[in-house]
Amino acid sequence: MEFYDDNLNVYTRDFEKVDIDAASLSKGKFESYMLKEIFEIPQALKDTNTTLSETDLPLDFIEILKNTPIINIVACGTAYNSAMAARYVIENLTRIPVNVEIASEFRYRNPIILKDSLFIAVSQSGETADTIAAVKLAKNLGAYVAVITNVASSSITNFANYTIHTKAGTEIAVAATKSYNCQLCAFYNLALYILKYRFNKDIKKYQEELYKLSYSAKKLLKNTEELITLAGQYSFNRSVFFLGRGLDYAVALEGSLKLKEISYIHSEGYAAGEIKHGTLALIEKGTLVVLLVTQKELAEKTMNALHEVKARGANVLAITQLNDIAKDSSLNHVIKLPEVDDLFAPVLEVIPLQLFAYYMARARGNDPDKPRNLAKSVTVE
Ligand code: G6P
Repeated sequence: MEFYDDNLNVYTRDFEKVDIDAASLSKGKFESYMLKEIFEIPQALKDTNTTLSETDLPLDFIEILKNTPIINIVACGTAYNSAMAARYVIENLTRIPVNVEIASEFRYRNPIILKDSLFIAVSQSGETADTIAAVKLAKNLGAYVAVITNVASSSITNFANYTIHTKAGTEIAVAATKSYNCQLCAFYNLALYILKYRFNKDIKKYQEELYKLSYSAKKLLKNTEELITLAGQYSFNRSVFFLGRGLDYAVALEGSLKLKEISYIHSEGYAAGEIKHGTLALIEKGTLVVLLVTQKELAEKTMNALHEVKARGANVLAITQLNDIAKDSSLNHVIKLPEVDDLFAPVLEVIPLQLFAYYMARARGNDPDKPRNLAKSVTVE
């Protein structure tokens, strides 16, 4: 291999051995990469948590964690959805204000960035052009840039002051799955770093919850039958709506994105309390509404949306770990999650949504690994 510069002069580059084994590049016993990658979530969570909880942070990053008055986060696609969930988690645990923005919007609004504030970019590939451009701008404006990426040697890391490496392993299917779960884990760990270094808090109980997620994900993946049946039933629906409040709203965005990416069914992720301001007009007899109800304190309010959509003829699938909710007789279908603390529920509740999108795509005869018009990594504006 030879490299040439703009004037066609040969130049040399350093070679770096990357940590990818052959098994991660094959489908193994699975019919598609996407399904394989969903089933790799338990291992990916374990690897990410172990690495991030045992990492020694550099002093300059610790200083920023101790002092930053605000955290700005940018990303695209699924990575953006993970940041939407992170906002609830970080603000809830640390009370530091968090802004989340789509990377392609950030740099065109003349953003205000405080010098020495923490700026985080999330990118599975580390190659998304808009996210890299946002990072460059934030750095020029004086921010300390931390990058959450799944590819340790990716372009974005060249512009970062600090890189948080998720250990999802190679992700080949265009629709991101295990990388999302790991991005969430990275954000939980980040919130715990802040609790530890800035507030001197004991983070053990949270770490235990984080460690449990891998086992719970494994348990959840044991039963996929129900989702296959549901996909068969709803695969020719015109629209599917995903509703939730708080953290569940953030996960609704990802459930909806997954479904539209690979099944090509129109879908919206919506805040449950907001539907009466427009979306309710789209609900008709037989419309599927997926109601995400994992946040105990918000559950009663979220269930108001159930009655609103049922009254317009919708069929409702609830995803919850809460026993009382699961027993509600007005629900058409329920997927019960393993016991999980509310704050950590997104990591698990997204799994049935990823599988549902996958089986919907299959039921419609689509190739879930290569959705039309989409690319794994968007390296142009
Ligand atoms: C593309 C992919 C998505 C991904 C997004 C951001 O649109 O199809 O799955 O979420 O890019 O990619 P990144 O690598 O920056 O996370």
